[in-house]
Amino acid sequence: MNRFALKLSTSLVALGLLAGGLAGGPAAAAQDVEVLHWWTSGGEAAALNVLKEDLEGKGVGWQDMPVAGGGGEQAMTVLRARVTAGNAPTAVQMLGFDIQDWAQEGALADLNALAASENWDKVVPAALQRFAKHEGKWISAPVNVHSTNWVWANKKIFDELEIAQPTSWDELVAALTKIKAAGYTAVAHGGQAWQDATIFDAVVMSVGGPELYKAAFVDLDPKALGGAEMKEAFDRMATLRGFVDDNFSGRDWNLASAMVIEGKAGVQFMGDWAKGEFLKAGLQPDQDFLCFRFPGTQGTVTFNSDQFAMFSVGDDRRDAQVKLASSIMAPSFQSAFNVVKGSVPARTDVSDADFDACGKKGMKELAAASDSGKLFGSMAHGHAAPASVKNAIYDVVTAHFNGEYDAATAAEELINAVEAAQ
Ligand code: GAL
Repeated sequence: MNRFALKLSTSLVALGLLAGGLAGGPAAAAQDVEVLHWWTSGGEAAALNVLKEDLEGKGVGWQDMPVAGGGGEQAMTVLRARVTAGNAPTAVQMLGFDIQDWAQEGALADLNALAASENWDKVVPAALQRFAKHEGKWISAPVNVHSTNWVWANKKIFDELEIAQPTSWDELVAALTKIKAAGYTAVAHGGQAWQDATIFDAVVMSVGGPELYKAAFVDLDPKALGGAEMKEAFDRMATLRGFVDDNFSGRDWNLASAMVIEGKAGVQFMGDWAKGEFLKAGLQPDQDFLCFRFPGTQGTVTFNSDQFAMFSVGDDRRDAQVKLASSIMAPSFQSAFNVVKGSVPARTDVSDADFDACGKKGMKELAAASDSGKLFGSMAHGHAAPASVKNAIYDVVTAHFNGEYDAATAAEELINAVEAAQ
């Protein structure tokens, strides 16, 4: 079995799908949409409800296909099995290059008629269209823009220890040292490859700015992947490793958020879906928690965009699919959904009036980064390089984080892994 097939079958067994068959639930009725997604945490489920209710109001039923696992790796494995079995869902939550891969396979529907009548070309930022369109055809509906270079901090702990928001790497290390010395877990982290990689996105940006980030993760330049700055990035990852608790391995991201929410940990480095957990717990930005950019990355934004890729379905299911896409793109929905999710709208014409302080900051910084050329797709979340390369980087970052490689070896391994993945 090759690596992919092996991974596929073990994950499917883990998910209980081989035994249960691949057909999923009862066949979707014509006025239902069947949607595969990985939004299973409290905050994510609350946001998804906004969409379900919106559709119910339009007479469209929702058949839920949740596949737990942040970042969506398991969801993509289940999807592959469903499509292979000739049973594609109506729509699938998907990130960046994965959308283009499925479009390339000819599996996605053509949304051009709807897109033209609703003017999507004018209102969706180019950075998202790059993934939502394939060979001139709209194939998916972007529901949000998340960014990955955020810090979520417990304000009470910061106040108690008189810590100011750190703005540089050295200030961050000083703050974490203080938090640890006071008996808290300094960094709430879940040791899963995609979470390690989410931190790595920010750390690489903090070391070498946009030049290093782009050269390494977009251009896949061996000099950047294995150079002195990358070694420094791995050194910083090792420093951060010294601030996580003993039980970090395998922990889900939302449980790490809960450690900050409950005042057990000082900070979490995570995309702004973490804010959804803080809000769900009834916490307020600036009052109970702080959101600020990973120190040393101010002015730059690494983003990902959750999109609903629309699969080619029979004519009988097409009407419900088009209604789903249209609902997702409606400005009022984009505001209502993203206020809950922690992300910001995937359209440039949505007011920030209903967003909290972190949301307003996120929208402003996204627009500014886009204008100044400092907006980059997140490597960890499939928006910088295709899945094969992303997974190769994951392997090295996680092996290093768990002490398998020193920094110099990791930087070297990064060159080899990325080369082998192309
Ligand atoms: C990301 C996704 C977010 C959030 C997160 C954790 O890949 O873009 O919406 O769901 O995974 O599950």
